[in-house]
Amino acid sequence: MQINEARFLVSNTDVEKCPAPALPEYAFIGRSNVGKSSLINMLTGNKNLAKTSGTPGKTQLINHFLVNNQWYMADLPGYGFAKVSKSQKKDFEKLINDYILKRKNLMTVFVLIDIRHKPLSNDLEFITWLGENRIPLALVFTKADKLNRQELKKNLDHYKATLLESWQELPPLFLTSATKRLGREEMLSFIDGTNEVFERP
Ligand code: GTP
Ligand code: MG
Repeated sequence: MQINEARFLVSNTDVEKCPAPALPEYAFIGRSNVGKSSLINMLTGNKNLAKTSGTPGKTQLINHFLVNNQWYMADLPGYGFAKVSKSQKKDFEKLINDYILKRKNLMTVFVLIDIRHKPLSNDLEFITWLGENRIPLALVFTKADKLNRQELKKNLDHYKATLLESWQELPPLFLTSATKRLGREEMLSFIDGTNEVFERP
């Protein structure tokens, strides 16, 4: 898929106020600093579209982007960020859970995982929660440029083995790097294919 146009639409904290669910939507979710906003910029080819930062907790709202006038991307706040207060953490969690359970046009939740880390319990819990709620998901490993080929394979294999302890099959997996533009074609063609099965709610 070619990206002809991608533009920011709206930020908000309320699922009800998100754009009308008339187009297919893809959410980018994961721990703070994992690279959600960078991935959105890499996929759309616009490095200024979503705000990125080396300081975790940059994205604090649900941000909607419209791509090719045809589908939405939603950039969500990161979970598992230790430096926000407990009540703010709860607010983020509620926001994310509400969004996922209520958003009728949500086609796939892209769960982002930093390929350098071992499987982390809050990522695994989140993935399990998505499975229990029958929300379609795909795993997107980020920052692949930070490891060599051998380390990538080792960490990927380890992650897959961990998932297969509780899942019968693996969800779609993507290996990406925002700096090297790795995984772009694969993700865009996945989105393209998924857009075709969208039915207006
Ligand atoms: P929050 O909005 O705070 O939850 O973070 P986020 O998940 O949106 O992460 P963001 O895209 O802001 O990136 C966090 C940091 O990681 C930034 O310093 C990025 O430059 C860096 N980063 C993101 N993706 C990559 C990547 O693929 N490779 C490398 N080397 N750095 C990356
Ligand atoms: Mg962000």
